[in-house]
Amino acid sequence: MKITVAGAGNVGLITAVCLADAGHHVTCVDTQKEKILLLKKGHSPFFEPGLEPLLEKTLSNGHLRFTTDQKLAYSDADIIFIAVGAPAKKDGSVDLSYIYAVSYSIADSIEKDVIVCTKSTVPVGTNGKIKQIFHYRKPRHLKVEVVSNPEFLREGSAIMDFYLGDRIILGVDNPETASIMEQLYLPLKIPIIVTDIRSAEMIKYASNAFLATKISFINEIANLCEKVGANIDEVAFGIGKDKRIGESFLQAGIGYGGSCFPKDTKALVQLAGNIKHPFELLESVIKVNQHQHSLLVAKAKELIGSLKGKRAALLGLAFKPETDDIREAASITIIKELLEEGANVTAYDPIAIPNTHKLIGNAIDYTTDIRQALKDADFAIIATEWGQIKHLPLDTFAAYMKEPIVLDGRNCYSMKEIQRYPITYVSIGRPVVSKGRVSSMSLK
Ligand SMILES: NC(=O)c1ccc[n+]([C@@H]2O[C@H](COP(=O)([O-])OP(=O)(O)OC[C@H]3O[C@@H](n4cnc5c(N)ncnc54)[C@H](O)[C@@H]3O)[C@@H](O)[C@H]2O)c1
Repeated sequence: MKITVAGAGNVGLITAVCLADAGHHVTCVDTQKEKILLLKKGHSPFFEPGLEPLLEKTLSNGHLRFTTDQKLAYSDADIIFIAVGAPAKKDGSVDLSYIYAVSYSIADSIEKDVIVCTKSTVPVGTNGKIKQIFHYRKPRHLKVEVVSNPEFLREGSAIMDFYLGDRIILGVDNPETASIMEQLYLPLKIPIIVTDIRSAEMIKYASNAFLATKISFINEIANLCEKVGANIDEVAFGIGKDKRIGESFLQAGIGYGGSCFPKDTKALVQLAGNIKHPFELLESVIKVNQHQHSLLVAKAKELIGSLKGKRAALLGLAFKPETDDIREAASITIIKELLEEGANVTAYDPIAIPNTHKLIGNAIDYTTDIRQALKDADFAIIATEWGQIKHLPLDTFAAYMKEPIVLDGRNCYSMKEIQRYPITYVSIGRPVVSKGRVSSMSLK
């Protein structure tokens, strides 16, 4: 099949490369010329494990091509995936201008019948509006079928998720379109769920809202654990063994970030509000998450006093390991708060420094060497559970820091281990360890 993917971002590029690797002829179109130039040379504009080798392979075997030419991309495609961004507006609602711009381009470019399949996360009803655009704009003799096919890949394991996803959701209007889409995905052997279009759109939001709720829930339990002298590790293990609850997404920390959960939870709250159905549970989930992002700077102040002129080592910038994505990362809130407090910040990250530099500039120092970040620091904050941080020999803190005070927002180290070192260690939902001794007192 001739496939076109609109958008060469995290979702579009992975979709294009993996479908090309599956043997289809894929054209990936993006409006950013520099991005397309880079991709034509086989370089990915963002970091994703395993992506570049597949990119090079599919480019060199001729299954994948990149272009900025919309007419070329859409005119003779059998299936077009829309994978452009749908970012949050200031009020939390979704900016659909990119989605509609692509729809107009497709309507103006097609020369044969086509299936248009929306992978971008869009509010319930959006695919209906896309259908309207085609109805009024496309050549009358051509048929366009619209499918909602929300994407569930996770940055950092996106390629694995493409091949081994839990399910594929197809929101369709008719069985013939469903059958063509099922044929496309059949080789992946992933369960396919066919629904109506509105339900497919809702499944994506409900999934992300549920996962965000699970994270905020365990974080609130962790905050309570600190107050009552319990240990979140034990608690999460104990509740996770209940199969109705499950073990995943029960890691307490300083909250979720990234391009999806923050945006999608706010969008669902907005969507519910628009129909006069306040989603109070989700509003609380968002509030808890914002609080978690600010937790460690508050704890640092409680422990140290004024942070003015103090040297802070910030370990981890990416919103999670194995990605250079810093969108809505806890690290960004932490940097802003530390700077407001007058601290001097040196940040470590193996790959997310260029993206952070674009946002924060030279207000902080950057290094790809953890020891350099820790050197002479008054305290360290761990914001991302990178392997390099988790596997750091724990004597490094005392060896390099002026004061070995570690505030760990990702519970990277076991309580047992940390007690063997002369560190003051504050984590999430666990007792404070002060130079080898577990304190029964928690910070406020
Ligand atoms: N990033 C994720 O992990 C993830 C996972 C699941 C779903 N999603 C959803 O998928 C969608 C895309 O996310 P992303 O992270 O890939 O976005 P992104 O911002 O990384 O990429 C979007 C790309 O679309 C391009 N674009 C914009 N207008 C265009 C046009 N008219 N024609 C062609 N290209 C155009 C942009 O230049 C950009 O390269 C969003 O709705 C997001 O919520 C993202």
